[in-house]
Amino acid sequence: MQHNPDNITIALSKGRILKETLPLFAAAGIEPLEDISESRKLIFETTQPGVQFIVIRATDVPTYVEYGVADLGVSGKDVLMEHGAEEMYELLDLNIARCRLMTARLVDAPAVRGRLKVATKFVRIAKQYFSEQGRQVDLIKLYGGMELAPIMKLADCIVDIVDTGNTLKANGLIAEEHIADISSRLIASRLALKLKDERIQPIVDRLSNAVTQSN
Ligand code: ATP
Ligand code: PRP
Repeated sequence: MQHNPDNITIALSKGRILKETLPLFAAAGIEPLEDISESRKLIFETTQPGVQFIVIRATDVPTYVEYGVADLGVSGKDVLMEHGAEEMYELLDLNIARCRLMTARLVDAPAVRGRLKVATKFVRIAKQYFSEQGRQVDLIKLYGGMELAPIMKLADCIVDIVDTGNTLKANGLIAEEHIADISSRLIASRLALKLKDERIQPIVDRLSNAVTQSN
């Protein structure tokens, strides 16, 4: 399938956000023409002519939007904070995939003297958080399963997403410090707002109504 730059391209995070994202777009009158979960495709035409979805990894969404290749995107606030938000605007809180970004440690962890070893995939957020607190830390980048790091003595604590708290509990950890409340956001590229505003604004308005109605 060819990419048409005149289309409105909306970058959706695959994985857990997608299931909650599609009903909001459906309520806004935009539905994929085929079942995304049954397809290996990455670009999907929608019921609105000239509007297409691209479905990519959550962490790649801000990159497509900041380069103006995608006009709109749906991304977790955690991903946006970690990526940095240059060349894009946060237009709506979609109020989906709500969770918290927290520090966590082993339930029976001894107090740490000196530098704290912190394992996380949110290196930038953790660096800023601990530096604002004037705490010296060594950051260890991981890509998932952060809860394992304190158990294996790779780190003293982690910075990770907490929702139900079940994953922490199952691994003998407790949440400690609250860093940020997280939900998914609709983002737009600066370029798109400049060049395609007339076509983007109605989509944003309809999504905004869909969010209000779903709350
Ligand atoms: P990638 O595939 O790019 O590595 P990921 O594995 O973090 O990303 P998901 O697990 O699908 O992707 O999570 C996507 C987003 O969903 C996160 O950025 C966060 O905003 C939110 N999220 C993650 N875990 C939870 C959770 N347990 N409960 C609610 N929301 C969550
Ligand atoms: C996320 C997050 C936590 C878990 C929190 O993991 O990293 O491990 O969800 O949810 P809970 O508080 O409801 O247990 P995910 O399933 O995305 O796997 P990951 O560790 O590979 O990121």
